[in-house]
Amino acid sequence: MVKICCIGAGYVGGPTMAVIAVKCPAIEVVVVDISKPRIDAWNSDKLPIYEPGLDEVVKACRGKNLFFSTDVEKHVAEADIIFVSVNTPTKTRGLGAGKAADLTYWESAARMIADVSKSDKIVVEKSTVPVKTAEAIEKILTHNSKGINYQILSNPEFLAEGTAIEDLFKPDRVLIGGRETPEGRKAVQALKEVYAHWVPEENIITTNLWSAELSKLAANAFLAQRISSVNAMSALCEATGANVSEVSYAIGKDSRIGPKFLNASVGFGGSCFQKDILNLVYICECNGLPEVANYWKQVIKINDYQKSRFVNRVVSSMFNTVSGKKVAILGFAFKKDTGDTRETPAIDVCKGLLGDKAHVSIYDPEVTEDQIQRDLAMNKFDWDAYEATKGAHAVCILTEWNQFKELDYQKIFDNMQKPAFIFDGRNVVDAEKLRGIGFIVYSIGKPLDAWLKDMPAIA
Ligand code: NAD
Ligand code: UDX
Repeated sequence: MVKICCIGAGYVGGPTMAVIAVKCPAIEVVVVDISKPRIDAWNSDKLPIYEPGLDEVVKACRGKNLFFSTDVEKHVAEADIIFVSVNTPTKTRGLGAGKAADLTYWESAARMIADVSKSDKIVVEKSTVPVKTAEAIEKILTHNSKGINYQILSNPEFLAEGTAIEDLFKPDRVLIGGRETPEGRKAVQALKEVYAHWVPEENIITTNLWSAELSKLAANAFLAQRISSVNAMSALCEATGANVSEVSYAIGKDSRIGPKFLNASVGFGGSCFQKDILNLVYICECNGLPEVANYWKQVIKINDYQKSRFVNRVVSSMFNTVSGKKVAILGFAFKKDTGDTRETPAIDVCKGLLGDKAHVSIYDPEVTEDQIQRDLAMNKFDWDAYEATKGAHAVCILTEWNQFKELDYQKIFDNMQKPAFIFDGRNVVDAEKLRGIGFIVYSIGKPLDAWLKDMPAIA
């Protein structure tokens, strides 16, 4: 029986290993983590992350061939294949601070593997890492290898939160990079056989190590660039009377462009896009490519611009001040169908409004009060959208939760201060219908209401 151990029971490690376990009943999968509360939650009825379909998958195999444990060393020592799926955040101090990936967790995992291993191992980079990380990891592992053979593979994860289970069941592709040596090819084949239990062979791409590592950063950079491109267009649409949804539809019909990932928004969030682009920028700078670095930096600049443009629009529309006014925030997660708030645009928007002394009241179906307290150092949290909007001067929609389409907006309007504003940062509501009720509506990238047009130009 092949034994797999995954270090890191987070948004990637947990769902990815649960899917491997459910698809490969003959493989024993153990997910380990240094965080006891996280492992306890994985072993409980209330999993540590909200992800549609995850509960069913975990319940189907937990205790059979899927286990969660804090006994990191024991399970690493016993495994044939070790996935490393620890966090790789942006460095906050020292060399490369604000850009480079912090590989502290990765390095300590690698040192631990070197310390406890007694048999040959395939070590798989599942975390997103800078290109060439495998070389550093190899050095750590082989420096004191006691005759053990280590093969390092890069197998980046492309799942998106909110659709993780769907993405893992039917991935567009699985990417495996390895050394171009007989041992390297054998290791690639061993990992390929795991995925081949459910992924068609033509969707499993094999490359050299550096291509696999770089492809992950490149994919996220390209995806984020599409959003910044459409968001840049949204500003021009508002200035000209064009409608960004119509523009997206029209350009997406070109099969070379394609229709996906062209929704204008208040800005992209999530733990990956900004971190990985900053990392890419740093790698370009370190390789003497400042023009390339500046090109990618612009994707983040537009994203920051989009968030501040939204705040400015709210404030300028409401007579240039939100001081003392209640502003209801519907949606705090960085996208629908997740409770994750890492780098959510809602944090920047709320901070902007709080900076202008608004009274912010937040509702999100999946984000906890504790989380908002940690993100904003405030706890004005409501358990329902009607409570959050009661007595408010304005509503800002910051996450595209389906339920926000179906709210009783007449009831919300009746309980709000007048004029009642809705700022839709995700284009989820039917603006015409809401105007019929009496709201002044701002929809990102759409032709402006007469009211908003007449307000002083925003910065
Ligand atoms: P996460 O913070 O949710 O999980 C990481 C886990 O690793 C934490 O539970 C932490 O306690 C644990 N950990 C850290 N050091 C450890 C150690 N030495 N031993 C044992 N456990 C340790 O992070 P995540 O969102 O799952 O992301 C993990 C990696 O996957 C990152 O590199 C990220 O860029 C990449 N990634 C994330 C996504 C996503 O949607 N979140 C998608 C693709 C790739
Ligand atoms: C992303 C990548 O999609 C995934 O392949 C990678 O493995 C991890 O990073 P994730 O961040 O979980 O996944 O979600 P994603 O669906 O990419 O959304 C990221 C952000 O972009 C969200 O804030 C989302 O609302 C925003 N977005 C997405 C838009 O603003 N417009 C769009 O058209 C699509």
